[in-house]
Amino acid sequence: MISRNDPCWCGSGQKWKKCHYPQHPPSLSEPLAKRYLKQFGIILKTPEQIDKIRNACKTTAKILDALCKRAAAGVTTQELDDLSQKLHKEFHAIPAPLNYGEPPFPKTICTSLNDVICHGIPNRTPLVEGDILNIDVSCIVDGFFGDCSRMVAIGNVSPEKQLVMDVSKESLERAIAVCRPGARIWEIGRAIEDYASSKGCSVVNQFVGHGVGLAFHEPPEIPHHYNQIDIEMVPGMVFTIEPMINAGVREGYIDEIDQWTVRTCDGKPSAQWEHTIVITHSGYEILTIP
Ligand code: MF3
Ligand code: CO
Repeated sequence: MISRNDPCWCGSGQKWKKCHYPQHPPSLSEPLAKRYLKQFGIILKTPEQIDKIRNACKTTAKILDALCKRAAAGVTTQELDDLSQKLHKEFHAIPAPLNYGEPPFPKTICTSLNDVICHGIPNRTPLVEGDILNIDVSCIVDGFFGDCSRMVAIGNVSPEKQLVMDVSKESLERAIAVCRPGARIWEIGRAIEDYASSKGCSVVNQFVGHGVGLAFHEPPEIPHHYNQIDIEMVPGMVFTIEPMINAGVREGYIDEIDQWTVRTCDGKPSAQWEHTIVITHSGYEILTIP
Protein backbone atom coordinates (compact mmCIF):
# COMPACT_ATOMS: atom_id res chain seq x y z
CA MET A 1 0.00 0.00 0.00
CA ILE A 2 1.34 3.44 -0.96
CA SER A 3 1.78 5.97 1.89
CA ARG A 4 1.45 9.78 1.75
CA ASN A 5 5.20 10.45 1.77
CA ASP A 6 6.07 7.91 -0.96
CA PRO A 7 6.92 9.16 -4.45
CA CYS A 8 3.75 9.54 -6.49
CA TRP A 9 2.81 6.58 -8.67
CA CYS A 10 2.49 8.88 -11.71
CA GLY A 11 6.29 9.21 -11.94
CA SER A 12 6.40 12.99 -11.29
CA GLY A 13 9.08 12.55 -8.60
CA GLN A 14 6.94 14.51 -6.12
CA LYS A 15 5.54 12.99 -2.96
CA TRP A 16 2.18 11.32 -3.36
CA LYS A 17 0.60 13.77 -0.88
CA LYS A 18 1.76 16.73 -3.04
CA CYS A 19 0.74 15.13 -6.30
CA HIS A 20 -2.11 12.71 -7.03
CA TYR A 21 -3.17 12.15 -3.39
CA PRO A 22 -5.77 10.86 -2.50
CA GLN A 23 -6.07 9.17 -5.92
CA HIS A 24 -4.57 5.67 -5.88
CA PRO A 25 -2.60 4.27 -8.81
CA PRO A 26 -5.19 3.13 -11.33
CA SER A 27 -4.02 -0.47 -11.42
CA LEU A 28 -4.40 -0.77 -7.65
CA SER A 29 -7.69 1.05 -7.27
CA GLU A 30 -9.50 -0.98 -9.95
CA PRO A 31 -8.89 -3.92 -12.23
CA LEU A 32 -7.30 -3.30 -15.59
CA ALA A 33 -10.48 -3.93 -17.58
CA LYS A 34 -12.37 -1.27 -15.65
CA ARG A 35 -9.55 1.22 -16.09
CA TYR A 36 -9.26 0.60 -19.85
CA LEU A 37 -12.99 1.03 -20.28
CA LYS A 38 -13.09 4.22 -18.23
CA GLN A 39 -9.88 5.79 -19.52
CA PHE A 40 -9.98 4.80 -23.21
CA GLY A 41 -13.39 3.24 -23.89
CA ILE A 42 -11.54 -0.01 -24.68
CA ILE A 43 -13.33 -3.27 -23.86
CA LEU A 44 -10.74 -5.87 -22.86
CA LYS A 45 -12.10 -9.25 -23.85
CA THR A 46 -12.50 -12.25 -21.55
CA PRO A 47 -11.13 -15.66 -22.63
CA GLU A 48 -14.72 -16.74 -23.39
CA GLN A 49 -15.28 -13.70 -25.60
CA ILE A 50 -11.93 -14.28 -27.34
CA ASP A 51 -13.00 -17.85 -28.19
CA LYS A 52 -16.15 -16.50 -29.87
CA ILE A 53 -14.23 -13.75 -31.67
CA ARG A 54 -11.67 -16.32 -32.86
CA ASN A 55 -14.52 -18.38 -34.26
CA ALA A 56 -15.95 -15.34 -36.11
CA CYS A 57 -12.47 -14.44 -37.38
CA LYS A 58 -11.88 -17.97 -38.72
CA THR A 59 -15.10 -17.82 -40.70
CA THR A 60 -14.18 -14.35 -41.98
CA ALA A 61 -10.78 -15.63 -43.14
CA LYS A 62 -12.32 -18.70 -44.80
CA ILE A 63 -14.73 -16.54 -46.80
CA LEU A 64 -11.88 -14.20 -47.77
CA ASP A 65 -9.82 -17.20 -48.88
CA ALA A 66 -12.57 -18.48 -51.15
CA LEU A 67 -13.20 -15.04 -52.66
CA CYS A 68 -9.51 -14.49 -53.38
CA LYS A 69 -9.37 -17.85 -55.18
CA ARG A 70 -12.33 -16.85 -57.36
CA ALA A 71 -10.89 -13.44 -58.38
CA ALA A 72 -9.55 -13.63 -61.96
CA ALA A 73 -9.68 -11.81 -65.28
CA GLY A 74 -13.24 -11.76 -66.64
CA VAL A 75 -14.86 -12.13 -63.22
CA THR A 76 -16.80 -9.12 -61.88
CA THR A 77 -16.61 -7.87 -58.32
CA GLN A 78 -20.41 -8.30 -58.24
CA GLU A 79 -19.85 -12.02 -58.82
CA LEU A 80 -17.48 -11.99 -55.85
CA ASP A 81 -20.20 -10.31 -53.81
CA ASP A 82 -22.71 -12.96 -54.95
CA LEU A 83 -20.33 -15.69 -53.82
CA SER A 84 -19.75 -13.81 -50.57
CA GLN A 85 -23.51 -13.71 -49.89
CA LYS A 86 -23.76 -17.44 -50.51
CA LEU A 87 -20.77 -18.25 -48.26
CA HIS A 88 -22.07 -16.03 -45.44
CA LYS A 89 -25.33 -18.02 -45.53
CA GLU A 90 -23.46 -21.35 -45.54
CA PHE A 91 -21.38 -20.30 -42.52
CA HIS A 92 -24.37 -18.77 -40.67
CA ALA A 93 -22.55 -15.44 -40.77
CA ILE A 94 -23.90 -11.93 -41.27
CA PRO A 95 -21.90 -9.61 -43.54
CA ALA A 96 -21.09 -6.58 -41.34
CA PRO A 97 -20.65 -4.07 -44.22
CA LEU A 98 -24.16 -4.61 -45.67
CA ASN A 99 -26.27 -1.54 -44.77
CA TYR A 100 -23.46 -0.26 -42.53
CA GLY A 101 -23.08 3.51 -42.11
CA GLU A 102 -24.67 6.46 -43.89
CA PRO A 103 -25.53 6.13 -46.71
CA PRO A 104 -25.92 2.40 -46.00
CA PHE A 105 -23.09 0.40 -47.64
CA PRO A 106 -24.90 -1.52 -50.40
CA LYS A 107 -22.86 -4.77 -50.62
CA THR A 108 -21.51 -7.55 -48.39
CA ILE A 109 -17.80 -6.94 -49.03
CA CYS A 110 -15.52 -4.09 -50.08
CA THR A 111 -13.64 -4.55 -53.37
CA SER A 112 -11.00 -1.87 -53.89
CA LEU A 113 -9.33 -1.85 -57.29
CA ASN A 114 -6.05 -0.18 -58.37
CA ASP A 115 -6.26 3.51 -57.28
CA VAL A 116 -9.08 2.77 -54.81
CA ILE A 117 -7.69 3.04 -51.28
CA CYS A 118 -10.65 1.37 -49.52
CA HIS A 119 -14.46 0.97 -49.35
CA GLY A 120 -14.83 0.11 -53.05
CA ILE A 121 -18.31 -1.18 -53.96
CA PRO A 122 -18.68 -4.40 -56.00
CA ASN A 123 -19.96 -3.73 -59.53
CA ARG A 124 -20.47 -5.30 -62.96
CA THR A 125 -17.08 -4.36 -64.48
CA PRO A 126 -15.00 -7.47 -65.20
CA LEU A 127 -11.52 -7.66 -63.71
CA VAL A 128 -8.75 -7.42 -66.29
CA GLU A 129 -5.15 -8.57 -66.47
CA GLY A 130 -2.96 -6.06 -64.64
CA ASP A 131 -5.54 -5.12 -61.99
CA ILE A 132 -4.75 -5.26 -58.28
CA LEU A 133 -7.72 -5.90 -56.03
CA ASN A 134 -8.27 -5.68 -52.28
CA ILE A 135 -11.09 -7.85 -50.93
CA ASP A 136 -12.24 -6.88 -47.44
CA VAL A 137 -14.49 -9.27 -45.49
CA SER A 138 -16.06 -8.48 -42.11
CA CYS A 139 -18.51 -10.92 -40.58
CA ILE A 140 -20.68 -11.34 -37.56
CA VAL A 141 -20.89 -14.91 -36.23
CA ASP A 142 -22.96 -15.63 -33.14
CA GLY A 143 -22.89 -11.89 -32.37
CA PHE A 144 -19.07 -11.52 -32.59
CA PHE A 145 -17.04 -9.73 -35.28
CA GLY A 146 -14.03 -10.58 -37.44
CA ASP A 147 -12.39 -8.32 -40.04
CA CYS A 148 -9.65 -9.03 -42.61
CA SER A 149 -8.57 -8.18 -46.12
CA ARG A 150 -5.98 -9.16 -48.72
CA MET A 151 -4.68 -8.20 -52.13
CA VAL A 152 -5.00 -10.27 -55.29
CA ALA A 153 -3.04 -9.59 -58.48
CA ILE A 154 -4.93 -10.33 -61.69
CA GLY A 155 -2.21 -11.80 -63.90
CA ASN A 156 0.94 -9.76 -64.42
CA VAL A 157 0.90 -6.32 -62.83
CA SER A 158 3.09 -3.23 -63.22
CA PRO A 159 6.17 -2.85 -60.98
CA GLU A 160 4.45 0.07 -59.20
CA LYS A 161 1.40 -2.07 -58.38
CA GLN A 162 3.60 -4.97 -57.30
CA LEU A 163 5.49 -2.58 -55.01
CA VAL A 164 2.39 -1.34 -53.12
CA MET A 165 1.08 -4.89 -52.81
CA ASP A 166 4.38 -6.10 -51.33
CA VAL A 167 4.90 -3.06 -49.10
CA SER A 168 1.37 -3.22 -47.63
CA LYS A 169 1.78 -6.93 -46.81
CA GLU A 170 5.20 -6.46 -45.24
CA SER A 171 3.89 -3.37 -43.38
CA LEU A 172 1.15 -5.46 -41.79
CA GLU A 173 3.64 -8.19 -40.83
CA ARG A 174 6.08 -5.68 -39.31
CA ALA A 175 3.26 -3.96 -37.41
CA ILE A 176 1.98 -7.24 -35.98
CA ALA A 177 5.52 -8.14 -34.90
CA VAL A 178 5.73 -5.16 -32.50
CA CYS A 179 2.53 -6.16 -30.68
CA ARG A 180 2.89 -7.53 -27.16
CA PRO A 181 1.89 -6.47 -23.63
CA GLY A 182 3.73 -3.27 -22.75
CA ALA A 183 4.14 -2.06 -26.35
CA ARG A 184 2.37 1.21 -27.24
CA ILE A 185 -0.17 1.79 -29.98
CA TRP A 186 2.13 4.37 -31.63
CA GLU A 187 4.74 1.66 -32.26
CA ILE A 188 2.44 0.21 -34.93
CA GLY A 189 2.44 3.44 -36.94
CA ARG A 190 6.17 3.83 -36.50
CA ALA A 191 6.86 0.30 -37.79
CA ILE A 192 4.64 0.88 -40.83
CA GLU A 193 5.67 4.41 -41.80
CA ASP A 194 9.40 3.74 -41.24
CA TYR A 195 9.19 0.77 -43.58
CA ALA A 196 6.79 2.17 -46.23
CA SER A 197 8.65 5.46 -46.55
CA SER A 198 11.96 3.58 -46.90
CA LYS A 199 10.39 1.95 -49.98
CA GLY A 200 9.22 5.30 -51.39
CA CYS A 201 5.57 4.69 -50.54
CA SER A 202 3.13 6.80 -48.50
CA VAL A 203 0.85 5.74 -45.65
CA VAL A 204 -2.84 6.71 -45.67
CA ASN A 205 -3.79 8.65 -42.54
CA GLN A 206 -7.49 9.30 -43.22
CA PHE A 207 -8.50 5.73 -42.31
CA VAL A 208 -7.24 3.65 -39.40
CA GLY A 209 -7.41 0.21 -37.81
CA HIS A 210 -9.76 -0.25 -34.89
CA GLY A 211 -10.83 -2.24 -31.89
CA VAL A 212 -13.24 -5.00 -32.94
CA GLY A 213 -15.00 -8.06 -31.53
CA LEU A 214 -18.18 -7.08 -29.74
CA ALA A 215 -18.88 -4.40 -32.35
CA PHE A 216 -17.58 -3.68 -35.87
CA HIS A 217 -15.64 -0.58 -34.84
CA GLU A 218 -14.63 -0.10 -31.20
CA PRO A 219 -11.98 2.05 -29.52
CA PRO A 220 -9.06 2.40 -29.85
CA GLU A 221 -8.19 3.81 -33.25
CA ILE A 222 -5.05 2.19 -34.67
CA PRO A 223 -3.31 4.71 -36.96
CA HIS A 224 -0.89 3.31 -39.53
CA HIS A 225 1.08 6.57 -39.79
CA TYR A 226 3.36 8.27 -37.23
CA ASN A 227 1.28 9.19 -34.17
CA GLN A 228 1.51 9.66 -30.45
CA ILE A 229 -1.17 7.35 -29.10
CA ASP A 230 0.53 6.16 -25.95
CA ILE A 231 -1.98 3.50 -24.91
CA GLU A 232 -0.20 0.41 -23.60
CA MET A 233 -1.14 -2.91 -25.19
CA VAL A 234 -2.47 -5.34 -22.60
CA PRO A 235 -3.77 -8.92 -22.80
CA GLY A 236 -7.35 -9.10 -24.04
CA MET A 237 -7.10 -6.15 -26.45
CA VAL A 238 -8.53 -7.14 -29.83
CA PHE A 239 -7.97 -4.85 -32.82
CA THR A 240 -7.34 -4.70 -36.54
CA ILE A 241 -4.23 -3.49 -38.30
CA GLU A 242 -5.00 -2.60 -41.92
CA PRO A 243 -2.32 -0.42 -43.51
CA MET A 244 -3.27 1.33 -46.75
CA ILE A 245 -0.10 2.03 -48.72
CA ASN A 246 0.06 4.34 -51.75
CA ALA A 247 2.61 4.53 -54.57
CA GLY A 248 2.16 8.32 -54.74
CA VAL A 249 0.58 10.85 -52.39
CA ARG A 250 -1.11 9.67 -49.20
CA GLU A 251 -4.26 11.76 -49.73
CA GLY A 252 -7.51 10.26 -50.94
CA TYR A 253 -10.95 11.64 -51.75
CA ILE A 254 -14.40 10.10 -51.35
CA ASP A 255 -16.55 9.54 -54.46
CA GLU A 256 -19.25 12.23 -54.54
CA ILE A 257 -21.87 9.96 -56.07
CA ASP A 258 -21.64 6.76 -53.97
CA GLN A 259 -20.11 8.50 -50.92
CA TRP A 260 -17.99 5.42 -50.09
CA THR A 261 -15.29 4.71 -52.67
CA VAL A 262 -12.00 6.33 -51.63
CA ARG A 263 -9.53 7.01 -54.46
CA THR A 264 -5.97 8.33 -54.36
CA CYS A 265 -5.79 12.04 -55.24
CA ASP A 266 -3.05 11.43 -57.84
CA GLY A 267 -4.64 8.31 -59.37
CA LYS A 268 -1.64 6.14 -58.45
CA PRO A 269 -2.17 2.62 -57.05
CA SER A 270 -2.96 1.77 -53.43
CA ALA A 271 -2.91 -1.55 -51.56
CA GLN A 272 -4.05 -2.87 -48.19
CA TRP A 273 -3.76 -6.01 -46.05
CA GLU A 274 -5.68 -6.51 -42.81
CA HIS A 275 -5.78 -8.90 -39.87
CA THR A 276 -7.64 -8.96 -36.56
CA ILE A 277 -5.28 -9.77 -33.68
CA VAL A 278 -5.54 -10.27 -29.92
CA ILE A 279 -2.85 -9.30 -27.40
CA THR A 280 -1.94 -12.36 -25.31
CA HIS A 281 0.18 -12.68 -22.18
CA SER A 282 3.26 -13.57 -24.23
CA GLY A 283 2.66 -11.47 -27.36
CA TYR A 284 -0.13 -11.69 -29.92
CA GLU A 285 -2.30 -14.14 -31.79
CA ILE A 286 -3.51 -13.50 -35.33
CA LEU A 287 -7.21 -14.41 -35.23
CA THR A 288 -8.12 -14.07 -38.91
CA ILE A 289 -6.44 -17.28 -40.05
CA PRO A 290 -8.63 -19.91 -41.75
N1 MF3 B 1 -12.08 -3.22 -42.79
C1 MF3 B 1 -12.92 -2.14 -43.18
C2 MF3 B 1 -13.13 -1.21 -42.00
O1 MF3 B 1 -12.89 -1.60 -40.90
C3 MF3 B 1 -14.25 -2.64 -43.66
C4 MF3 B 1 -15.15 -1.53 -44.10
S1 MF3 B 1 -16.70 -2.11 -44.46
C5 MF3 B 1 -17.64 -0.73 -44.77
O2 MF3 B 1 -13.49 -0.06 -42.14
F1 MF3 B 1 -18.86 -1.11 -44.80
F2 MF3 B 1 -17.45 0.17 -43.79
F3 MF3 B 1 -17.27 -0.21 -45.89
CO1 CO C 1 -11.34 -3.02 -40.47
